[in-house]
Parts: sequence; C-alpha cells; structure tokens
Amino acid sequence: MKGIILAGGAGTRLHPLTLSISKQLIPIYDKPMIYYPLSTLMSIGIREILIISTEKDIDLFKNLLGDGRHLGCDFKYKTQSKPNGIAEAFLIGEDFIDNSNVTLILGDNIFYSSNMKFNFKNDLEGAHIFAYHVANPGRYGVVQFDKENKILSIEEKPKEPKSNFAIPGMYLFDSNVVKYAKSLKPSLRGELEITDLLQKYLFENSLKVTKMDKGTAWLDTGTFSSLMQASQFVHVLEKRQGLKVGCIEEVAYKMGYINKNDLKKRAKKFMNSGYGEYLISLINEDE
Ligand code: DAU
Repeated sequence: MKGIILAGGAGTRLHPLTLSISKQLIPIYDKPMIYYPLSTLMSIGIREILIISTEKDIDLFKNLLGDGRHLGCDFKYKTQSKPNGIAEAFLIGEDFIDNSNVTLILGDNIFYSSNMKFNFKNDLEGAHIFAYHVANPGRYGVVQFDKENKILSIEEKPKEPKSNFAIPGMYLFDSNVVKYAKSLKPSLRGELEITDLLQKYLFENSLKVTKMDKGTAWLDTGTFSSLMQASQFVHVLEKRQGLKVGCIEEVAYKMGYINKNDLKKRAKKFMNSGYGEYLISLINEDE
C-alpha cells in the first residue's frame, strides 16, 4: 500500500490568514500540521508516500521532510497547479501509484488513536472509507448506511444531512482509482470531488465503510476555532501524558523503520527544543 498526502490549496475558510503559505506547514501546538497525517500513514505501515502541494510551497515541504530516508521511508513530491479538487490527487499521482493500492490522507486532517492502529487490511479490493459521528455533518462529506454497514448514500456538504456520520479525510483505494478519477467531471464548483469518486465505487458495489473506533479522535482544522482546538488537544495530551502525538521519528522507531543510532542522529538536530530530548528518552526507555 502506498500513500498520498494532499497538502495544497489553503482551506477556503482560512483564506485571509493563510494565502501566503499552505496551511499544512503551520504548527499545531509543537510541530507542523503535516506531521500528524504523515505519522498516521507511517503508523499503519505505509512508507512510500507522495506529498502534493502548490508550486509555491513544495520546496518548503521538501526542506522540511526530505527524501524520507532518515525515517526509513521514501517521500516523493508533486505539485498541483491550483485547487482543482481532492480527486485530482490520483491524476497527479498516476505514475507514483503505478497499479498499487493507495491511501489518500488530507494534509489538514488529524487522527489520534490511543494505540496508533486502524482496523483495516492491506489486501484491499474496491475502496474503503471511515465514518465518524459529528454534531455538524453538513460541513463534510456525509455517509448514510444501514445496520449491516451497507452504504445507502454519499453526499458532499448536504444542506439536509441524511445521517450524522461525516467522512474523514482518509480514504483507501485499490488500483482502479486512477481509471475512475480520469472519468470524473468537475462539479458545479469546478472541482473533481472526492465524493463523486466514491460514488463510482458505490455504483460498482465496491465501497465499504467502517465506523471509526470510539477511541480515535478525528480533528478538523478547517476554521480558526478548530485550528486552535486542535493545538489545545495536542497540548493537553502531551502535557498530561509526557508523550508526543504525531512525532514522525517516534513512529519510525517504534515501527522498526529506523534503529537506535538513526534516532540518536536525528535527535541531535533538535537538542535544546525539547523535541531532541524526547527522542533520546525513547531510546533510554528501551535500555
Ligand atoms: O476533512 C474531511 C472533508 O474534506 C471530507 O468530509 C469532504 O468530503 C471533503 O470534500 C473535504 O472537505 P473540505 O471542505 O474540508 O475540503 P477542503 O477544500 O478544505 O480541502 C481539504 C484539504 O485538501 C485542505 O488541506 C486543502 C487540500 N486541497 C483541497 C483541494 C480541493 C488540496 O490540496 N487541493 C485541492 O484541490
């Protein structure tokens, strides 16, 4: 399974503030936003990752994350000329995907799971989405399903939502995704919609949904207020537990992508910030 992080065009609701920089580069508490979705992909075993951002900001992401070797991963980069829609990620990523299955995660979505594992298989047929109960579903893609988890409808930001289940920005697709993405037409707002892509799988009877575990928090960073809440959430958890959320080096080490020496080398870069000391403490714990 390969992974794509879509980290382009600033979320429309934050435009006045973030026009000058992709928002996935701004910090959520103590690390750049993109660390969180990146650590999620890495923690479910995905090491080959394509990062898509704007022509203007792609070098900032490259400077931040490099080629991934220091994390035992392989990062590639591509640009999106303008925000033509989430599903365009599969056209931009066609060569990268190269007939593999692929997980797409939106660069502004933060998942926190106490055991850092999601319940899904790697040998995927069709597409798989998650459902997360929210109070305000109309702001998201909404999925309606019956007691057997059979999907009845999928709608993008409906005025009258048919359920309270939002579709979080993490989607698993088999290699048909490129073919389906190529057949999409722009919506009325001019975007290749992720929900239209999901409709194609639904039509073929090959879309599955799983309710996200109650122990998983899905945080939104689409508004100023939710951005602040996400920082507060990470801050409270980290201070209370003395553990970090979204620490890519920690995930790489715990998943066995890098060894103690690699981690030590990495830690040296961040001494005096608390981050380096934290990485060293992970090694000490194991000795
Ligand atoms: O957060 C989950 C929701 O994300 C889903 O429930 C919706 O179905 C999905 O459409 C999406 O809704 P948003 O309104 O949050 O999408 P937004 O336009 O804010 O884009 C999400 C992220 O993807 C954001 O970080 C910017 C990036 N993006 C978006 C588009 C449309 C790109 O990099 N390129 C794009 O063309």
